[in-house]
Amino acid sequence: MERNMKKLYEESSWGWNGEAKKTELTEDSAWYLIASSEGKKIGFSHFRFDLDDGVAVLYCYELQLELLERRKGLGRFMMQALEAIAAKNQMQKVVLTVLKHNPMALSFFYKLGYKLDSTNPPPSEEVDYVILSKQNLLCE
Ligand SMILES: CC(C)(COP(=O)(O)OP(=O)(O)OC[C@H]1O[C@@H](n2cnc3c(N)ncnc32)[C@H](O)[C@@H]1OP(=O)(O)O)[C@@H](O)C(=O)NCCC(=O)NCCS
Repeated sequence: MERNMKKLYEESSWGWNGEAKKTELTEDSAWYLIASSEGKKIGFSHFRFDLDDGVAVLYCYELQLELLERRKGLGRFMMQALEAIAAKNQMQKVVLTVLKHNPMALSFFYKLGYKLDSTNPPPSEEVDYVILSKQNLLCE
């Protein structure tokens, strides 16, 4: 988390607070999908089952892969797994927040079909993140 995101957070209005992040990552409501290869952990997603504007959602808080494991389809595979978990649990959509100055993540999520969510702040708010989502087609 720190290796991948500290600099991006520092460049954003959120700033980096390692202790606060550790607390968030270890709260009881945090679920994990962990990717491992030959006994070594190579990526994780922290996600939660949440109510967002009254809608049941799977909120993907983090998707983090080790540098050497990127661009091999693992991120796509893990998002497909989260989407399957969301569908299985009758969540209406998968939602996530991406910093606007993280072009790699934006390209990735747009490529996977994620679109601006209804809760994405309007341009007048001038925030440095976007909220994206993908509907669970089984719930439409
Ligand atoms: C974002 C991240 C999870 C993507 O995972 P990944 O396994 O590398 O992505 P995939 O190999 O599944 O890529 C799927 C598609 O997304 C797009 N994509 C992925 N990484 C990209 C990049 N760096 N630049 C442009 N497009 C990219 C491509 O279209 C890719 O398809 P292709 O390889 O056939 O061209 C990974 O790069 C990562 O862990 N980054 C650091 C942490 C981070 O920023 N997480 C997101 C926080 S919101």
